[in-house]
Amino acid sequence: MAKSALIIGASRGLGLGLVKEFISRGWRVTGTVRTPAQELEQIAGAAVERLDIDLPDQIAALRERLDGQRFDLLFVNAGVMMRDRSETIGMVTTAEFTRVMTTNALSPMRVLEGLGDLVDATGTIAVMTSVLGSVSRNTGGDAEVYRASKAALNSLFKGFAARQRKPLTFLAVHPGWVQTEIGGSNAVLDVATSVRGVADVVEKRAGKRGVAFVDNNDMEIPW
Ligand SMILES: NC(=O)c1ccc[n+]([C@@H]2O[C@H](COP(=O)([O-])OP(=O)(O)OC[C@H]3O[C@@H](n4cnc5c(N)ncnc54)[C@H](OP(=O)(O)O)[C@@H]3O)[C@@H](O)[C@H]2O)c1
Repeated sequence: MAKSALIIGASRGLGLGLVKEFISRGWRVTGTVRTPAQELEQIAGAAVERLDIDLPDQIAALRERLDGQRFDLLFVNAGVMMRDRSETIGMVTTAEFTRVMTTNALSPMRVLEGLGDLVDATGTIAVMTSVLGSVSRNTGGDAEVYRASKAALNSLFKGFAARQRKPLTFLAVHPGWVQTEIGGSNAVLDVATSVRGVADVVEKRAGKRGVAFVDNNDMEIPW
């Protein structure tokens, strides 16, 4: 039977790329978008759902719509960059700090809390984090609030994984530095190359259980 994936934040960039990649591998894929997204809707075989991860009512409504479905993979990809990544913690407004922390840490975890039970008992739950969220690797500074939001996501993700009783596999994935709106045009990878690596990691680690922080080449990253 075909494997199934629910990819959260699939309108463009890496999320859209993941939908295309898993479909090309024969998976049955549902992607979510917060506003109508033509490109996703035109992918043959992709089911499209609406979700703004910052709106808890929409998470609950999606859970109801998906009731009875099972997924081998739930992947929360949605995320945002700081409006000005050179802003230090001393410069950032409370509104901007709250926006980045909410969308990158609180909301992905709310999605896992709300939709995690749709994942098969031996399935995989993944979040798109960043190497910039590695506290031990943070020697460069820069994008301080984005880094903190991904470090918070990593910490919350580990806590979530630790209290699950099912033999699930938990992956905090760094996709590499990728040419998207967040990665910018100087990034070293194109979307297709990154998501091919990410999908390889998901397939290779399926059923392995435990929690890992890995990149698109399956290299482990220190938390
Ligand atoms: N590109 C890189 O180099 C890189 C490196 C490390 C980690 N990442 C992570 O990879 C993930 C994907 O980013 P990307 O590089 O593909 O950037 P992107 O092209 O800017 O895509 C961001 C995606 O997140 C969605 N999103 C943002 N806020 C949302 C919300 N409240 N509800 C639902 N969806 C929301 C966007 O949807 P809309 O179209 O509706 O805005 C879009 O689909 C992010 O978590 C990012 O932090 C990227």
